[in-house]
Amino acid sequence: MSVNALFKPFQLGTLQLPSRVVMAPMTRSFSPGGVPTAKVVEYYRRRAAAGVGLIVTEGTTVGHKAANGYPHVPRFYGVDALAGWKQVVDAVHAEGGKIVPQLWHVGNVRRLGTEPDAAVPGYGPQAKIKDGKVLIHGMTHQDIADVVAAFAQAAADAKAIGMDGVEIHGAHGYLIDQFFWEGSNQRDDEYGGSLAKRSRFAVELIQAVRVAVGPDFPIIFRFSQWKQQDYSARLVQTPEALGDFLKPLADAGVDIFHCSTRRFWEPEFEGSDLNLAGWTRQLTGKPTITVGSVGLDGEFLQFMVDTDKVAQPASLENLLKRLNADEFDLVAVGRALLVDPDWAAKVRDGREQDILPFSREALASLV
Ligand SMILES: Cc1cc2nc3c(=O)[nH]c(=O)nc-3n(C[C@H](O)[C@H](O)[C@H](O)COP(=O)(O)O)c2cc1C
Repeated sequence: MSVNALFKPFQLGTLQLPSRVVMAPMTRSFSPGGVPTAKVVEYYRRRAAAGVGLIVTEGTTVGHKAANGYPHVPRFYGVDALAGWKQVVDAVHAEGGKIVPQLWHVGNVRRLGTEPDAAVPGYGPQAKIKDGKVLIHGMTHQDIADVVAAFAQAAADAKAIGMDGVEIHGAHGYLIDQFFWEGSNQRDDEYGGSLAKRSRFAVELIQAVRVAVGPDFPIIFRFSQWKQQDYSARLVQTPEALGDFLKPLADAGVDIFHCSTRRFWEPEFEGSDLNLAGWTRQLTGKPTITVGSVGLDGEFLQFMVDTDKVAQPASLENLLKRLNADEFDLVAVGRALLVDPDWAAKVRDGREQDILPFSREALASLV
């Protein structure tokens, strides 16, 4: 089957992508002090040079004291970090690629002792206090306003340094998703209750980002049913509920939905083969990005547990069939691109036999 569908340009408003291959956001933890280094610049440049149409950067934290949850994660605030990102942008553009930062707040996943200020606990929809010690600070209305403002500022900065859009990380059980999910949001104010009310935080945040960047700057929103706290969790059980969930987000200013699944071929609801990106495209009329085990024979979370597993390259036939049928518009590739900077070029040029397998060892270095 021809791979041409993956290498057709894509246009949405002012955003023009040279191919349909998107690099999925992947935390790499190679930015000491939160500043992307020259190695990080080279890492992204190589993917753009080898046919990736759009790079979504690793999660990069917005300017709020509790946004970060892990060591050596790049910041998206501060003169030093933004200067580092500007070099990444320029290098990617010089190769003809496009790039957006994934703006991230980890919420209640943060632990005391984490950089940049070890004394700051996690912030989440609700408090967790143990033996009189605040482990999670329950967010007040002022905290909510502060985080919304931090996302808006980060988006404005992304535009100022030449990024081609932003991706808001609303998936995987981090802060925005903690508000969506009733398992982590039992608030009894206007930010809790029904899914519509639990979405209020995201809606306000997207609206503020839209105001900060103006009408033409692309906003991608990543969401997922699964949570890192519970892989089988679901926000919605039916297509109708999915439509009701997504409409306010689209109305608030989302241009593209990035529908995070672990296996792209799995039907989202009974009675249809459509995956989450397929349903989202159909229900919202917005372009969508699919993701999950593209080009590999094992899904990504098992690699965090079974450390000696190796994922072998797998056929793209099912993916291409769906892309050709316009089930979704763009295809995000994670581990296959993490281990092999030339993955897209190898697919494009019929060099499948040269594609590298993925194992956890690949996480140890930036290539
Ligand atoms: C090492 C690693 C780091 C990741 N970090 C992020 C992240 O920062 N933000 C995010 O939304 N997803 C993150 N993910 C999930 C990926 O974006 C992607 O959805 C997942 O790996 C499935 O795609 P794949 O099967 O092609 O690898 C990460 C995945 C891996 C393997």
